[in-house]
Amino acid sequence: MIIAIDGPAASGKGTLGKRLAAHYHFRHLDTGVIYRAVAKALLDARVDLADEAAAVAAAMELDPEKFGDPVLKTQAVGDAASVVSAYPRVRAALVTFQRQFAAEPPGAVLDGRDIGTVICPDADVKIFVIAAPEVRARRRTLEAKARGEAADEALVLADIVRRDDRDKNRAVAPLRPAPDAHLLDNSHLDIEGGVRAAIAIVEAVRAGRQRV
Ligand code: DC
Repeated sequence: MIIAIDGPAASGKGTLGKRLAAHYHFRHLDTGVIYRAVAKALLDARVDLADEAAAVAAAMELDPEKFGDPVLKTQAVGDAASVVSAYPRVRAALVTFQRQFAAEPPGAVLDGRDIGTVICPDADVKIFVIAAPEVRARRRTLEAKARGEAADEALVLADIVRRDDRDKNRAVAPLRPAPDAHLLDNSHLDIEGGVRAAIAIVEAVRAGRQRV
């Protein structure tokens, strides 16, 4: 079984993906980390983010062993990831890795922006997570502070709005729900409430199938 979870920055889809995977004993891939790793490679090499060819080369040399690096989670890397992820050839270079991950048993949860629309259009369950930008900014600020980083909530909100805009309006694989995605608005839910709502969606899809 493949579960696709898409949604905007800081919507909580990563935590949800991890928790759903643990619940069903599936493998989990936070696909944002892939684009973040490409961005970090350019930042480390002091290469201009506008250098599409360098970004493509970094995407082709990606090392999944480095996906756990905590630096990947910082706002600077996330912002750069939003830029490199708009390059069609960068996205194309990363499709096979993601599809292979999804296809391996016993099942997988992938979260990102285009899992239900491009990477796994035949996913068994698609969930599109949304939350008000102000709620996401508050959560992201608290997370950054918990990591010991300085974070100004107004700047975080401006960054989220800018990133949403870039992710939604890019020409290739823009952020949007697949027609058959289930919307999950977690603006007023805590993590446990979001997990319960997502499991309810998966179970409803499974029950629906069994009836057919
Ligand atoms: O979910 P995130 O904040 O870790 O994602 C970082 C950036 O990567 C985000 O601005 C858009 C991009 N991204 C993407 O284009 N497609 C994905 N499947 C996942 C992330």
